[in-house]
Amino acid sequence: MILPVYLYGQPVLRKEAEDVPREYPELKKLVSDMFETMYNADGVGLAGPQVGLSLRILVIDADVLRDDFPECKGFKRTMINPEFLEKSEETVSMEEGCLSLPGIHEKVYRSVKVRVKYFDENWTEHDEMLEGFAARVVQHECEHLTGHVFIDNVSAIRRQLNKGKLNNIIKGTVRCSYRTKAVKKLK
Ligand code: NI
Repeated sequence: MILPVYLYGQPVLRKEAEDVPREYPELKKLVSDMFETMYNADGVGLAGPQVGLSLRILVIDADVLRDDFPECKGFKRTMINPEFLEKSEETVSMEEGCLSLPGIHEKVYRSVKVRVKYFDENWTEHDEMLEGFAARVVQHECEHLTGHVFIDNVSAIRRQLNKGKLNNIIKGTVRCSYRTKAVKKLK
């Protein structure tokens, strides 16, 4: 089932998400809905708050980026209650976008390498080292779980330049090819 993607301005995107409890009902259904929602919107990652759930869960499939970023080949993951065990001091700036901020693309600094611990949808624990764009996607998605979005990381000047676009998202006047839930409804 395709879920509506909550857009910038929705309070759920600003909340610190909570751990997914072991007894969470229909976890696999949620994971499958999140993948379907992400693919339908041509995204490579989607976090719980983006579908209105303040839960520490995210899905990623960055395989489509494999030609430009070989580290993304086959990089498909479900991460439940993820935690960074290490983040490299070395950072690199690259352009990002977000399904919750349609039409906005800005360069963001992220750690080049990360080590992340998480559970998959079968509650099997994983401890993984990632680098390059794969590490970037995980950092972008995990940021959603802390009540932040990527635009928070850009300079005040760059944010100011995007102010009109951000206001349009809040006002619900941005048209998307996918189902969304803006703060105000498009008339
Ligand atoms: Ni995002």
